[in-house]
Amino acid sequence: MISCLLSTIFKLLWLVRNFTGVPLTVQLSPKVFIIDFFSMEQSTWFGIPEFDLLARNITIPGLSPKDPDVHCTKDGAICQVLTSEGEINAATAITALIFSSAFDLRNTYFLLAGIAGINPHLGTLGSVAFSRYAVQATLQYEIDAREKPSQFPGGYFPQGTSGPDMYPLVIYGTEVFELNDALRQRAIAFARTAVLNDTADAQAYRAKYAAEPAFAAAVAAPSVIACDSATADTFWTGSLLATDVERTVKLLTNDSGTYCTAQQEDNAALAALLRGALAGRVDFGRIVEMRTGSNFDRPPPGMSALDGLLFGMTVGPGFQVSLENIYLAGVKVVQGIIANWGKTFAAGVPAQNYVGDILGSLGGAPDFGIQNQTSPPRKAKKPPPDL
Ligand SMILES: *[C@@H]1O[C@H](CO)[C@@H](O)[C@H](O)[C@H]1NC(C)=O
Ligand SMILES: *[C@@H]1O[C@H](CO)[C@@H](O)[C@H](O)[C@H]1NC(C)=O
Ligand SMILES: *[C@@H]1O[C@H](CO)[C@@H](O)[C@H](O)[C@H]1NC(C)=O
Ligand SMILES: *[C@@H]1O[C@H](CO)[C@@H](O)[C@H](O)[C@H]1NC(C)=O
Repeated sequence: MISCLLSTIFKLLWLVRNFTGVPLTVQLSPKVFIIDFFSMEQSTWFGIPEFDLLARNITIPGLSPKDPDVHCTKDGAICQVLTSEGEINAATAITALIFSSAFDLRNTYFLLAGIAGINPHLGTLGSVAFSRYAVQATLQYEIDAREKPSQFPGGYFPQGTSGPDMYPLVIYGTEVFELNDALRQRAIAFARTAVLNDTADAQAYRAKYAAEPAFAAAVAAPSVIACDSATADTFWTGSLLATDVERTVKLLTNDSGTYCTAQQEDNAALAALLRGALAGRVDFGRIVEMRTGSNFDRPPPGMSALDGLLFGMTVGPGFQVSLENIYLAGVKVVQGIIANWGKTFAAGVPAQNYVGDILGSLGGAPDFGIQNQTSPPRKAKKPPPDL
């Protein structure tokens, strides 16, 4: 009798699992997942008064050996992952996270939260930039600039073309991602409630940009800004490469994007998230890309590119303020999403703009790129039952 009852219960559970997709194991479904790229971006969130990310550690196979644990608050509402730096580390870690059975991420908001090089036309050390477009800036042909044709502005030009300023004709799919702008505007509004950090080191260094009127934003105090991000594995620097990246972002986004932050991971993390969306495991409309200025992408007037890199880069005058402002601005975004969960965020923030990749993989027509290079839209599949 008892065994018959047990067997019926197991059969019912089996049916529930297989026909509704409801898993039997306990999964966390965080409201916000913070994605950081190296240890100091990660630890800027530790020991803060708002929440304790070290209350719960979950080991996930495939994460960075530098930290194989996802860190979460006790209730599992907020989690954080460290990818390690560069495109390969970011793509592999986020892929491992998305396809881990420990999480149900279908309603989760992702906050990409790292430091970056900053364009002195638009921001300064400690600026907090929220992007709509992420462009993979060095996925291009390259001729060493010493061998380039004299009419080329630089050594890079788009794949499948014969020179600069032609839209690339050979597309890999990770060149451009466009994020939900309505969500970005909400994140910006939350971040603007923060009192940002500023330091004497950052002030002294940014003052060197005062000689060039076009760099007024570099001399001003840090603020929250809306402008776009460029991904490259190369830690490039200098006015010539920076001008090249400005042009590349404009070209690839059909003049909609404005480059202001340079980093080494975002297109890679976004590529993994896009695949997660295609598999029905994440919502690509729930991603916020935030980067804080830690070093200028080019030297101040009168300084060489090399000195600009060596004096101005990581562990330089903007390092502390950029780490501090990840937390100060980012925590407002996290709290804003949690506090308005039922009212706004549980259901999602409807996008008014195209959201997705250059191929239109998630449906809809990108407002950039060349039509009919794109694959036919594919509907996101129902998640597998063993999610
Ligand atoms: C989680 O891991 C961190 C180190 O990464 C440790 O300091 C913390 O105590 C751990 N938390 C728990 C609940 O074990
Ligand atoms: C900025 O942060 C540093 C620590 O990183 C702190 O010492 C300093 O007091 C802060 N300054 C302001 C203006 O908040
Ligand atoms: C983007 O610009 C390219 C030329 O650079 C053009 O061929 C293409 O049609 C434009 N795409 C859109 C969606 O307007
Ligand atoms: C692009 O593809 C669509 C549908 O697949 C087709 O109707 C249209 O004619 C194509 N346009 C060009 C310029 O080839």
